[in-house]
Amino acid sequence: MSVVLSERLVAPSILSADFGRLDADMATVIDAGARLIHVDVMDGHFVPVITLGPAVVKAIAPAVHERGGALDVHLMIEHPERFVDAFATAGADAITVHQEACVHLHRTLAQIRETGAQAGVALNPATPLETLAEAREYTDLVLIMSVDPGFGGQRFIAGSLDKLRRARAYLPAAVAIEVDGGVSLDNAATLVEAGANLLVAGNSVYGAADPALAFRALAAAVASAG
Ligand code: DX5
Ligand code: ZN
Repeated sequence: MSVVLSERLVAPSILSADFGRLDADMATVIDAGARLIHVDVMDGHFVPVITLGPAVVKAIAPAVHERGGALDVHLMIEHPERFVDAFATAGADAITVHQEACVHLHRTLAQIRETGAQAGVALNPATPLETLAEAREYTDLVLIMSVDPGFGGQRFIAGSLDKLRRARAYLPAAVAIEVDGGVSLDNAATLVEAGANLLVAGNSVYGAADPALAFRALAAAVASAG
């Protein structure tokens, strides 16, 4: 994949984009400098909402890859192991599964890596970091949910900041830390200082009057954080 997950990056989430004009909405942020596009997959079971599946990832992947971008696919679904191969074949560059949805997490992370994609594991706000005691050695990315998954535009759960700090100390240095939910210009630098290097931004980019400008402002805040 063309994008290195250990970099500091803002990943716009297309959950808040216009699904009727995804190509144009993605081009807007890629032209503004985005390299990682966050794709929220929801199944109506693990979370209440249904969003999109591998067919949509396949449709958007060429335009993202041609522009030097990568697809960060966040699976908020039950039995993610049944769909990993389909999302990888469709063009996902990183695939993140929920710890809460995986009975055989070791096997599923290995399955993701076997496809050539980077493997990630996500934790809901109420799931302790320590549930990754064994898995932390074989994941490329840990996604800390800072809202309960299912919807864009929710308020950042304040305790997530401390969880990020503890995650940075708890996880091997090579493991990227992504924060997802309620990321804004107000907290972006603080989140980086707490240990996150990948910041998902849905509403704060696509809910803005000028998404390109909003992306650039977030990217600048992330780049200049201490
Ligand atoms: C929520 C999703 C997020 C969502 C974040 O379940 O996983 O990726 O798009 O949206 P904002 O940035 O609006 O909180
Ligand atoms: Zn997400």
